[in-house]
Amino acid sequence: MAYQIIDGKKVSAELKDEIAEIVNDRIEKGQKKPHLAAVLVGNDGASETYVNHKVKACAQVGFESTLIRLPEDTSENEILSAVNQLNNDSDIDGFIVQLPLPKHINEQKIIEAIAPEKDVDGFHPINLGKMVVGLPAFISATPFGIVELLKKYNIETQGKNVVVLGRSNIVGTPLSILLSRKSDFGNATVTICHSRTQNIGEITSKADILIAALGRPEFVTANMVKEGAVVIDVGTTRVKSDKTKSGWKLKGDVLFDEVAPKCSYITPVPGGVGPMTIVSLLKNTLIAASGKK
Ligand code: GUN
Repeated sequence: MAYQIIDGKKVSAELKDEIAEIVNDRIEKGQKKPHLAAVLVGNDGASETYVNHKVKACAQVGFESTLIRLPEDTSENEILSAVNQLNNDSDIDGFIVQLPLPKHINEQKIIEAIAPEKDVDGFHPINLGKMVVGLPAFISATPFGIVELLKKYNIETQGKNVVVLGRSNIVGTPLSILLSRKSDFGNATVTICHSRTQNIGEITSKADILIAALGRPEFVTANMVKEGAVVIDVGTTRVKSDKTKSGWKLKGDVLFDEVAPKCSYITPVPGGVGPMTIVSLLKNTLIAASGKK
């Protein structure tokens, strides 16, 4: 089957242009530039790359950004104090604390300390809860980006069988709710699979839309995918490679070369969901700056 690549890089570039125009309009009206802050604790290589991409994206659309770097051995109280400062800083419209945090930190406690109106990651239980009942809320960036991609490619979700692999708080769980709730780009019949699911392949091969968010490289093989399915790959695991300068490359959760020929649409890794996550964060920050959700 001829498959079409879902080009997240292209869509995200278009969306960034739209955001940049809105920022220009704001500035012409004498309003301030939206300002996003990011807290990065420790030296995790992947987190560092993600945060650098976020800071760079801010510059591309005309946002201010502030990066707060804290050492690996920062105490929970010190992180809470940085969060409080950002909560109280009226120049900061929204901020994120990059995850994962070092093992001695209770991540949930940090997330719950973030003021919900500045929680542009949409991780606070208030935002998650509002999203569940269909109230305006910050929707976490990866699920938001995936829904935007489906919209851009006119991929209908209503009445479709969607299978989500993975039940994380930041991707699988919110995404399954977004796609099943009564709204545009919802109304799907959603099944979540996880580490205790039996006969995963049987379930995935019934999916019209299969979303892999497990963090297990090349988990999804051709025999697990229905002919003509839409496959969205959220995986971004760094694996060793002697072919790249950095010594690693990104692998998705889908064995692309084998799966793609069975699909109608498929996202690549990199260049699929990843760039959309960043643009969604920018969108949320713009909403925060506009004072509405
Ligand atoms: N770690 C992996 N993805 C994310 C994300 O979207 N936001 C934050 N804060 N940390 C992450």
